[in-house]
Amino acid sequence: MRTPIIIDCDPGHDDAIAILLALAHPERLDIRGITTVGGNQILERITDNALKVLSFVDADIPVAKGAAGPLLGKLVTGAEAHGESGMDGPALPASRFKPVEQGAVEFMLELLRASEEKITLVPLAPLTNIALLITAYPEVKEKIKEISLMGGGLAYGNVTRTAEFNIYVDPEAARIVFDSGIPIVMSGLDVTDKAAIFQEEIDELKTRGPVSVLVGELLDFYSIYGRKMGYVGNALHDPCAVAWLLQPELFRSERLHVTVETEGKLTRGMTVADRRKKPEQPANAEVLLDVDREAFMQLLFTALERLDREQLLRQAPAGGS
Ligand code: RIB
Ligand code: CA
Repeated sequence: MRTPIIIDCDPGHDDAIAILLALAHPERLDIRGITTVGGNQILERITDNALKVLSFVDADIPVAKGAAGPLLGKLVTGAEAHGESGMDGPALPASRFKPVEQGAVEFMLELLRASEEKITLVPLAPLTNIALLITAYPEVKEKIKEISLMGGGLAYGNVTRTAEFNIYVDPEAARIVFDSGIPIVMSGLDVTDKAAIFQEEIDELKTRGPVSVLVGELLDFYSIYGRKMGYVGNALHDPCAVAWLLQPELFRSERLHVTVETEGKLTRGMTVADRRKKPEQPANAEVLLDVDREAFMQLLFTALERLDREQLLRQAPAGGS
């Protein structure tokens, strides 16, 4: 049974890998559309990156541009990690595709209203678009099956000691989404930092087909910042939110009530879980806390192999030879 999804993203090296992981499983995931939001870089650049990734693998999926920045205040980008283009490293060819005319909110609204079955949202970036959608059109919540997001972290942050980037950029939006009543699957740093790829695995990717090589080259760049921040492996944050949809058994999780701090001087942007024996409110989130890293890597490598084969078939001269 195929799961209809909408991916909301800010490519972003790991967003790109998450999109490719989803594209490699058309029999499982029906990508109805992709929306973009200011985050790792400014909206124009990350939208261009999303279009380039899709064009690279000839995936003609509609892309709609969303919010340029958070609900309040100015956009803080992730340029330090993702570079000036938002996806520095390999030079991808210009995209054959253009974004649709509609904005992301109208685009998602139309897809949700038109869909016979509920759609799963897969946000891999600040939650501004999602918050705008469910605030402007609360009735559409009943067409959303669940939200499998990358964001937050119970034990620590990566922008501040308490706040992870996607939540930090727009805490008000994150609070709206976590308090919305829509079931959440949270891939926070507790799990994504364990879904780390190591240099020898990156080097292996670069010996394979064109899509694997692209991912290896993306990760070579993305690893620079990770090493600077003291990490050995390179955390594959966003792919966790897609991998859960494909193989939830790879993960260990806890059902918890999670909300978002928007006021604290030290804690603004923190995802706060109630882990007491008798929590005040019922759980609203499946919080992923651990992953079978080897199996996760196998899922990714197999997916990229499939995309490699399809890419090589597309590139083969007509009529074969
Ligand atoms: O903290 C990791 C998140 O921030 C990922 O979504 C990555 O793409 C960056 O946006
Ligand atoms: Ca992202």
